[in-house]
Amino acid sequence: SNSNALARAAGKLYFGTATDNSELSDAAYVAILSDNSYFGQLTPANSMKWDATEPEQGVFTFSGGDQIVSQAKAHNQIMRGHNCVWYNQLPSWVSNGGFTSAQLTSIIQNHCSTLVSHYKGEIWDVVNEPFNDDGTWRSDVFYNTLGTSYVDIALQAARAADPGAKIYINDYNIEMTGAKATSMLNLIKDLKSRGIPVDGVGLQCHFIVGEVPTSLQSIMQQFTALGVEVAITELDIRMTLPASTALLAQQETDYKNVISACKAVSGCVGVTVWDYTDKYSWVPSTFSGQGEACPWDANLQKKPAYSGITAAWA
Ligand code: G3I
Repeated sequence: SNSNALARAAGKLYFGTATDNSELSDAAYVAILSDNSYFGQLTPANSMKWDATEPEQGVFTFSGGDQIVSQAKAHNQIMRGHNCVWYNQLPSWVSNGGFTSAQLTSIIQNHCSTLVSHYKGEIWDVVNEPFNDDGTWRSDVFYNTLGTSYVDIALQAARAADPGAKIYINDYNIEMTGAKATSMLNLIKDLKSRGIPVDGVGLQCHFIVGEVPTSLQSIMQQFTALGVEVAITELDIRMTLPASTALLAQQETDYKNVISACKAVSGCVGVTVWDYTDKYSWVPSTFSGQGEACPWDANLQKKPAYSGITAAWA
């Protein structure tokens, strides 16, 4: 059996992948992407971000996101919206700032509610990457104008726009015990105590071969103990190139351990890889000399990592 079928059999909602619009003209890539036995969920890697969806104030363009949704719907795949509020990939009219708090509040409300109502009935990363690695709040136009209240504003707008959508806060380096995870735990506690809607925490899981955090499962349990679900939202496990048999074997073990952690936590609803193939991974262009982070290689052939995934779900 294949990765999504096995995830479903293990009681999870999906095993999924990120994808991007430019990749949809690659027929061999799309053939695998479209196979629901492999993937039951898609996340658009870029086309629902602010610069793509509201490039000018009040002017929304849904064409890129809609294309990914059609691809997903045609194969009975769940969509994860990504994302409403993030410091990166903002159009300059937002990142330039200069807003009063009332102005930025209504800008966030309009952006979140328009996106979440256009893509109804889905899962949404409403707030992406709010923290620095030391656990302090990221200094961006949202925090600098509104303080932490921008998180409330975004979540409340998303909930009002579609009460049926699962609304998440998503971040990286919260997969291990430490200051950043503690800040996210405290944020969830605070939101819950004040009655601000939040359904889940996304753990991105951009890992390095041989360095999968041993506290991953326990951190997920700490989140679910607060009354939210969790998901692994952007999994990839990169290595320093060139790859070797030993590195690929370690990567197989690493993928297996990550999937096993989600499997073991009842509130972990699914796992998404940040594209399934090395052909389209973001890693080599960001981390010089590193790559081969995905479960399929650049020729769309399964790597040992894929066996790690299926072994863990089974
Ligand atoms: O669209 C332009 C194209 O017109 C231009 O010719 C080309 C030249 O560089 O750039 C294209 O834009 C690129 C865009 O991806 C679409 O391919 C950007 O330069 C590039 O920076 C952008 O990278 C994306 C990255 O987020 C930006 O931060 C990656 O594809 C995307 O996979 C990555 O995803 C993020 C998640 O959203 C949040 N978590 C981390 C994750 C990995 O960085």
